[in-house]
Amino acid sequence: MRSMKSSKKDLLAREIRARCRGELRVDEPLSGHTTFGMGGPADLFFLPANLDDLGRAVPLVRDSGLPVLPLGGGTNMLVREAGFRGLVLCLTSGLTRTRVEADLGQAQAGASLQVFSRRCQRAGRTGMEFGCGIPGTVGGAIRGNAGAWGGETVERLIWLQGIDLRSGEMLRLGQDEVSFGYRHTDLPAGLVVVDAAFHLAEENPEVVKRRMDEMLARRKASQPLWKRNAGCVFKNPPGRSAGLLIDQAGCKRLSAGAVEVSDLHANFMTNTGGGTAEEALALIEQVRERVRRTHGVELETEVRIVGTHGVENP
Ligand code: EPU
Repeated sequence: MRSMKSSKKDLLAREIRARCRGELRVDEPLSGHTTFGMGGPADLFFLPANLDDLGRAVPLVRDSGLPVLPLGGGTNMLVREAGFRGLVLCLTSGLTRTRVEADLGQAQAGASLQVFSRRCQRAGRTGMEFGCGIPGTVGGAIRGNAGAWGGETVERLIWLQGIDLRSGEMLRLGQDEVSFGYRHTDLPAGLVVVDAAFHLAEENPEVVKRRMDEMLARRKASQPLWKRNAGCVFKNPPGRSAGLLIDQAGCKRLSAGAVEVSDLHANFMTNTGGGTAEEALALIEQVRERVRRTHGVELETEVRIVGTHGVENP
């Protein structure tokens, strides 16, 4: 079994290198690609040079039968120490173009949401400022419907373009074809977002900037941004705040190994140095249990947990 998998992996690596431009890495540690700074290696890690190279790679990957994990900024992700036995598709070097035109802002999936948000502001457009403090890519923000301070990614969406990993076809979906909710988008399984357009409106850039500065200041004051973290660990239960519930349950500063519940914001966990995914997972369960006992509320993880075969809590 092991040798069959490893030969599939070697074959796919050779084919991608022969036919697609970009960078193909083997046994790439994912700890360097997640903001939490933990996790084992991916068998293969591919950074296509552009959309055409991605399009050429998709049938090769499909025919290999290996699982695929699209990776954005790795901001909301906890990779287990065993790593991932497939191909990670990372669009952050080849698909990063953005443009602003009249009332439309367009960004490829690998573009940084913060950079795109700034570009819209400088162009004198409002609509994307909520993204100024959200780390990660536009593609990742769409997949998880990232949001902050009342703004959400998919509510601003006009259309998205994605490549279907099974057929290799490019699909374009209007916002009305995407069902979405709090921290959740119901995109078809196997669809990798490559490009998207968002609604913008004209506004004085200085006014937009002031709004962004305010959001950033609030974020800095309430979230441990200077420490390694994976964003909010749990989703807010309807009408409640996970951070408040965790705080009230007395979890601040609880730790497992080098992973700690932040004393600034209880829904953040920080990796104080050399923390492992297993420590983080143990701490997640400990917090969940305490909140269950104290409040009778079952917290749902927002952080996506990646195991050897892919995302375990899609
Ligand atoms: N609170 C505490 N103790 C804590 C944390 C929070 O008492 O340790 C209280 C706060 O004082 C406030 C309430 O809980 O009264 C809510 O806290 P906050 O304003 O920080 O908002 P949140 O609901 O915890 C959400 C998002 C964040 C987003 C902020 C700002 C979720 C799970 N979290 O946090 O998103 O940045 O609002 O819009 O939806 C993320 O999703 O990764 C994330 C960081």
